[in-house]
Amino acid sequence: MTTSVNGAEGNALDLVLPDRVHRDVYTDPTVFEMEMENIFMHTWVYVGHESEIARPGDYKTTEVGNKPVILSRDRDGAIHVLMNRCRHRGATVCQWPTGNATSFRCRFHGWTYDQAGRLTGVAYQEGYSGLDKSALSLESAPLVESYRGLVFASFDRDVPTLREHLGPALEFLDRFIDHIPGHGLRAAPQAQRLRYPANWKIQMENSLDGYHANFTHASFFSIMQARTAQPAQYVSAKRTSDSVALGNGHAMLDQRVAAGPALRRRLDTLPGAPAPGTDLDALFGVPDGEQLYAATPGPGFNLAIFPNLALVGIHLREIHPVSVDRTDVVLRPMLADGGPDPINRLRLRYHELFYGPSGFGQPDDLEMFDRIKEGNSAGTDPWIRLDRGLDREVTEADGSQRGDITDETPQRGQYRQWRALMAKQW
Ligand code: FES
Ligand SMILES: [Fe+2]
Repeated sequence: MTTSVNGAEGNALDLVLPDRVHRDVYTDPTVFEMEMENIFMHTWVYVGHESEIARPGDYKTTEVGNKPVILSRDRDGAIHVLMNRCRHRGATVCQWPTGNATSFRCRFHGWTYDQAGRLTGVAYQEGYSGLDKSALSLESAPLVESYRGLVFASFDRDVPTLREHLGPALEFLDRFIDHIPGHGLRAAPQAQRLRYPANWKIQMENSLDGYHANFTHASFFSIMQARTAQPAQYVSAKRTSDSVALGNGHAMLDQRVAAGPALRRRLDTLPGAPAPGTDLDALFGVPDGEQLYAATPGPGFNLAIFPNLALVGIHLREIHPVSVDRTDVVLRPMLADGGPDPINRLRLRYHELFYGPSGFGQPDDLEMFDRIKEGNSAGTDPWIRLDRGLDREVTEADGSQRGDITDETPQRGQYRQWRALMAKQW
């Protein structure tokens, strides 16, 4: 199928309706290329946490959409997002995932760039006449901005400010950033990077899917039930938690009320968890040990920032589209900056319980992503239903939509933003 926004062969916008999406949004390479341009090159995209590049010269390689970039801190402390593409013949200039460097040297013919992307060295330069190095910097995102440590970039200057873009999600972003009493967040030195053979939007949707947990993750809940000797379910028929489409494609699952005690019981069963009756102030060497311990599972909600970031449990989840049917996901646990080691170790153990490579949860989701791809290759009905809870969701005074936690309210909000960006002529 050939698709274009306004082309004769098919209209990409017809693939996304208010209550359903066509399965081609997962499989059409033309739609994917349009997304990489219309969405990822024309809105704020999350690129990393400041603590990942804390010192001058620190860098990490990552992607904006499927384009390789370098997130770099120069010697003056300014942060840059540089296209990882040499201005000579286009090779990437940095291969390492992270590091500290005074320059990036292209291995092909040796052109060298500083941490701000300026071309500083050309091998055997006498072979060129009148080469203007100042015009051959690495291309860079014109807009790079942090919101309380979270770094976003836009390759389009003509976008709303970062604060306007994040606006509807700021309250919960702040709650996540502030969820550890007395401590800010710092990125764990290592992150998990996993790849699955299906479209990036499946992970985008799944980060806020409150309908699947009791089924996809049934084994997790039965094990937790056995470990804690308490009933363990994600949600029950009683409405105790909400899903919210916040606006601008951002959305959340708010399970703070229902999940709080269950998260605590899980925490208590971890290796290294304090025995009942332990003096937590003394154990952690702080005056508020109980509060610090209670915050270990995270703030109790899932928040997704369109298009490529989710804040889940204690981790920041980056979605990296590779191709129409291939996606990388980075799960980066966030630790208590300057916090006691026992707390940070427990945070990692808690994260691993569900999301680790041998955890009980993430592998279940990846299996479902495979099944979505396999199943959608069959049948005559091309539609993916996203209408659950449509008639019971409530539009709040601030314009957000609120539904039951099992409703597809978040996904409808995500696709509204998808449609708005895909419809624009840039
Ligand atoms: S491609 Fe980089 S120096 Fe030639
Ligand atoms: Fe899941």
